[in-house]
Amino acid sequence: MSVERTLSIIKPDAVSKNVIGKIFSRFEEAGLKIVATKMLHLSKEQAEGFYAEHKERPFFNDLVAFMTSGPVVVSALEGENAIVKNRELMGATNPQEAAAGTIRAEFASTIDENAVHGSDSETSAAREVAYFFNSDEVCPRTR
Ligand code: TYD
Ligand code: MG
Repeated sequence: MSVERTLSIIKPDAVSKNVIGKIFSRFEEAGLKIVATKMLHLSKEQAEGFYAEHKERPFFNDLVAFMTSGPVVVSALEGENAIVKNRELMGATNPQEAAAGTIRAEFASTIDENAVHGSDSETSAAREVAYFFNSDEVCPRTR
């Protein structure tokens, strides 16, 4: 196992439900450390660029509209196997299919408003952390 970083986004639906702290607790209880975090309201251009891989998908415009509908919390999480660990904590993309106890099962009800984003590979994690944070904004844990 290796120490990895992954990007998390708490999406506008979850921010609106006032569950930022509960979602942060899931990360911390699983041993993931928050090494960078900020709240921001994404512009259309930021959301389109972030989700560029989905540009041709039928849900793209709705996804961008949703992601720009209110503030989000973007964080870099650090820990052993952080990328897969965060995906496990999140649950399946469709909350109806997400395992009981996962973030999406607990805090989301539809696939288009599903509470959280998490990087899906080392390549996307590196791109996504750099998309939101300069290197001096990420604070590796030394203790
Ligand atoms: P995707 O990368 O497939 O899922 P995940 O967030 O689990 O990595 O899709 C990105 C987001 O696009 C997803 O979180 C919600 C939205 N989406 C829809 O609205 N409808 C869909 O059918 C799919 C597949 C995704
Ligand atoms: Mg994805």
